[in-house]
Amino acid sequence: MTETPALQSNGPQGNAPQASAAPERNKGPAFFSCWDIHGYYGESYIVQGVSFDIREGEIVALLGRNGAGKTSTLRTIARMSDPQLTHGEIWLDHKPLHEMSDFQASQFGVGLVPEDRRIIPGLTVEENLQLAQIAEPKGWSIERLYEHFPRLAERRKQEGVTLSGGEQQMLAVARALARDVKLLLLDEPYEGLAPVIVQEIERILEEIKGLGLTTIIVEQNAIAALHLADRAIILDMGQVAFDGIAQEVLDNAELRQEYLAI
Ligand SMILES: Nc1ncnc2c1ncn2[C@@H]1O[C@H](COP(=O)(O)OP(=O)(O)OP(=O)(O)O)[C@@H](O)[C@H]1O
Ligand SMILES: [Mg+2]
Repeated sequence: MTETPALQSNGPQGNAPQASAAPERNKGPAFFSCWDIHGYYGESYIVQGVSFDIREGEIVALLGRNGAGKTSTLRTIARMSDPQLTHGEIWLDHKPLHEMSDFQASQFGVGLVPEDRRIIPGLTVEENLQLAQIAEPKGWSIERLYEHFPRLAERRKQEGVTLSGGEQQMLAVARALARDVKLLLLDEPYEGLAPVIVQEIERILEEIKGLGLTTIIVEQNAIAALHLADRAIILDMGQVAFDGIAQEVLDNAELRQEYLAI
């Protein structure tokens, strides 16, 4: 029973032998997989057959030029209603995300930190964090979050929307970790921030990396993302143009020039 009846799939390999119990083929080693996902905004065909795997604890930089489809791919994985997933499968920890709503995916542990951060007006920093923990399953305790985000501890009584851009980004990441997150999706966490604040958020993300949280980071600041990430996936016109280790992209000027213009 799926929520998206139009969904079709040929599985990871179109010509793979058809197993009688369909999910069997999905019990591979990958912690996260998307297989041939296609997504539309109305009539606009944007996510055009994206496939990749992520191992548990891995950090993947999802890169590409403006309009390549990075945000749309994150939104598809988080099961937002647009773009609409019309084909393909998305698996996280052996569960079919492609059969879930955005709410179910979030409950299961997909933590999307969108570009606009969505801090809730009228609530203090602490209340924003408490609200994230209103329902089970909870993630890090408020005390633990404050240990990793000392600036938020200092500003716990301040209204969240009055924080600086960098502090709001910290709050948005902290709020995701306040839930029991299995897959963290960060859309341009460094956007619009001064280099010194970028460094502070990088430090926090390095700490998170040390804790083994599986993460996809989308960033215009590709060099910073590549230094943090284990692997890189480059999108071009809604398709995967490169999938390999992050260092390979750092070392390959031609590849960077072609797809990232850096
Ligand atoms: N709601 C929408 N309706 C129609 N088309 C959209 C919508 N959102 C995005 N698109 C289109 O989908 C394509 C991919 O957009 P997306 O935002 O995923 O790119 P991106 O790689 O995140 O770009 P950027 O680096 O600028 O954030 C673009 O051509 C964009 O115009
Ligand atoms: Mg984007």
